[in-house]
Amino acid sequence: MQILVTGGAGYIASHTALALLERGHVPVLLDNFVNSKPAVLDRIAALAGTRPVLLRGDVRDGAFVEQALREHRIDAVIHFAALKAVGESVAKPLDYYDNNIHGTLALLGAMRRAGVKTLVFSSSATVYSADQPMPLREDGALGAVNPYGRTKLMVENILADVAAADPSVSFTSLRYFNPVGAHPSGTMGEDPRGIPNNLMPFVAQVAVGRLPRLRVFGNDYPTPDGTGMRDYIHVCDLAEGHVAAIDHGHGKAGSHVFNLGTGTGSSVLDVVKAFGQACGKDLPYEVVPRRAGDVAACWADPAYAEKVLGWRATRTMQTMCEDAWRWQSANPNGYPD
Ligand code: NAD
Ligand code: UD1
Repeated sequence: MQILVTGGAGYIASHTALALLERGHVPVLLDNFVNSKPAVLDRIAALAGTRPVLLRGDVRDGAFVEQALREHRIDAVIHFAALKAVGESVAKPLDYYDNNIHGTLALLGAMRRAGVKTLVFSSSATVYSADQPMPLREDGALGAVNPYGRTKLMVENILADVAAADPSVSFTSLRYFNPVGAHPSGTMGEDPRGIPNNLMPFVAQVAVGRLPRLRVFGNDYPTPDGTGMRDYIHVCDLAEGHVAAIDHGHGKAGSHVFNLGTGTGSSVLDVVKAFGQACGKDLPYEVVPRRAGDVAACWADPAYAEKVLGWRATRTMQTMCEDAWRWQSANPNGYPD
């Protein structure tokens, strides 16, 4: 299939583009580079032996997207393009609603005009209500607590409404848990701008000496070691989940939702320990007060994705850390400009 990948130069999308190529699909990448660099294309090309088409542009530009869908005879779309920093979304909600909601509406309009029926959407575990028992199942109560999370929940609702009104479309929302790690080659990985907000890229920058020490946000949670627990999933497992969703969803009408997680929670100190083993040194950290808005623990029930998509995550925390370290140590400043 010819697959339009919005936000195609980003962290998860670039690994997904590679997985699509490995599966024999043809990804066409679209990005405005608000949070990525074109250099990732060289890395995809080196690994895949073929260079995907890259369209520089904005997903909010419906006419541009429609032209891309028609020119490249697109069969399906994977919609990654979004802003994703929770704190920034609180400070700049309009930017988030514009990019994430308006972007999706413009894309859906272009798809309708061009007759493209299949969409896979990047959702997040953040759509679940914080009071849910673990593990989280797809039918659990929903309720986002910040503008970023609300954009994901709104888009899920929009997709369900459009699919209910038009029985010819197939929409799949994938609720990612905590994507981490890098391609095992060490040539592709996460390249956050500025000081990372998320745990694994922060730890990686401590390991490489760019940051002095990790601040552990609280060790008084009701978890075995007192630190927060999350379901970290290797980005290559996640990428393969998208290929499974595209292969499954194409031609099947309706609106579908799947968790993409491992089903296992790891604590902050588990991650520090595993990363220390991967890089061969003890990583300095200090415990500081809890971060506002954090939950104690969050992990997926991934059974539904395995049953319906035939997909499950296979890579361990040790592999996630080893691959993240290979990427970080070979590319301490990320992708070149
Ligand atoms: P990323 O920032 O690396 O990728 C997003 C890409 O979209 C970037 O390349 C950016 O330049 C591009 N983009 C943003 N707005 C655009 C626009 N208007 N037009 C064209 N391109 C645009 O982020 P990621 O971590 O790879 O996340 C991909 C998707 O997965 C996002 O929708 C994100 O919200 C979602 N998600 C990510 C995580 C995570 O922890 N990384 C977790 C859950 C969900
Ligand atoms: C973050 C996002 C969430 C998104 C998820 C997916 C926030 C507030 N939430 O959640 O919307 O869906 O990523 O990847 O950004 N930690 C530290 N020190 C650090 C950084 C993190 O101790 O410097 C701890 C956190 O308290 C948490 C764990 O590490 O217990 C993971 O944090 P993080 O990587 O930011 O992910 P989430 O909080 O799950």
